Amino acid sequence: MKRFSYRDNELFCEDTPAKDLAGEYGTPLYVYSKNGLADVFACIRKAFSELSPIVAFSVKSCSNLAVLAVLRAEGAGFDIVSGGELFRAMKAGADPRKIVFSGVGKSDEEIRLALDNDILMFNIESEAELDNIQALAASLGTVAPVALRLNPDVDAKTNAKTTTGRKENKFGIDFATASRIVSNIALHPNIRLLGLDMHLGSPIYSTEPYRQALAKMSDFIRDHRSPRAHLEYINIGGGFGLLYRDQTVPSFQEYAQAVVPFVKAAGCKLILEPGRCIAGNNSLLLSRVLYVKDNGTRHFTIVDAGMNDLVRPAMYDAYHFCWPALSTRPPPAYIFNSPDAQEYFGLEVFYAESAQAGRAVGADGLRTTDVVGPVCESSDCFARARRLPPMDRGDLVAFFSAGAYGFSMASNYNSRLRPAEVMVDGGGSRLIRRRETLDELIAGESFF
Ligand SMILES: Cc1ncc(COP(=O)(O)O)c(C=O)c1O
Repeated sequence: MKRFSYRDNELFCEDTPAKDLAGEYGTPLYVYSKNGLADVFACIRKAFSELSPIVAFSVKSCSNLAVLAVLRAEGAGFDIVSGGELFRAMKAGADPRKIVFSGVGKSDEEIRLALDNDILMFNIESEAELDNIQALAASLGTVAPVALRLNPDVDAKTNAKTTTGRKENKFGIDFATASRIVSNIALHPNIRLLGLDMHLGSPIYSTEPYRQALAKMSDFIRDHRSPRAHLEYINIGGGFGLLYRDQTVPSFQEYAQAVVPFVKAAGCKLILEPGRCIAGNNSLLLSRVLYVKDNGTRHFTIVDAGMNDLVRPAMYDAYHFCWPALSTRPPPAYIFNSPDAQEYFGLEVFYAESAQAGRAVGADGLRTTDVVGPVCESSDCFARARRLPPMDRGDLVAFFSAGAYGFSMASNYNSRLRPAEVMVDGGGSRLIRRRETLDELIAGESFF
């Protein structure tokens, strides 16, 4: 978050005023901090340096080529979940020997593409997938490197829609099936079994789920290692937490302290697949206020970004801190864990219960408003009953920590053009994806 700061109540992205970015590139606009991305990546590598891991950035979290290229230059590998993400990673100059391919439903075409590109390994999620990759590798006269994605049945205590490591989730392979696969691995001559993989969910605000899952994985490795099943890699997936509001997020060192001993004791190499914690706090979404209105019951601030641009609040009830880019007072919650922040979030709860009462600007200079987008859905709401400085048509508002699962989940719903993306580097900025055009909106369509 430190790459975004308020100076005299004005928002700066690195050393670039947010209002200049909005003026030059328009809104809605995703803004990424180049130095923030590089820094956080370096911090992760440092925390786990004892094992010199492959840090495979999860492309799905933020897939712009420029973001991938910045991370690749820092030494990142990539965790992909589709042929499209493989294409992106290779365009960004990825080393295919640092690419791992996850996902429950890889198509034949995607598997062939990955084999052609000689990626490091597939994280496979079912026996049926293993059989298919065996057949495809045999038909191509090659050997496919794989890890088994285990489902450790551990509760990562995330949003129900983002938990992936429980039995009831579609992800991974149960231990009994994995045991059978490993014992029968000789039946798959075109498969090289390299290791085990997991991904527990996202975001995980505790190191405990990693410990629990790794204890199970370590036992599995101890019981199943053989000359035909080297099991030399442990991939812990992603899931590291991100500061969206007042959560306590373990440091990378704390995550490492939980993970490294297990991996060392198993004599394995480590792979990580972080996404959110890299892209999230190093980004924001800038939007402009279109209208304000008060219907006698609630006050609404209607902005030009919609749920098609940032779907997380509508989809996951996600909280994104927001504040005007030019403000009459500093954002109290900007330093999230300050006592000021506690007071702010406390107030918010109070006003959420009495949104009607807080509609007029109070002695604190704030008013309670629902910040909503233009999309024709009631779920198109970024912030419900938020205490914010009064804003008016034309004012700029920033949604913080928006870049992870932000643009990458953007759509054309309501036939809205997807937003532009820009990267800042100190006082400079560069457009890294231009705003879509109306022609692009209908490209590929034809009349019957
Ligand atoms: C297999 C896999 N790896 C890594 C990630 C990245 O997780 P995060 O962005 O929480 O680090 C995901 C996200 O869903 C995932 O499904």
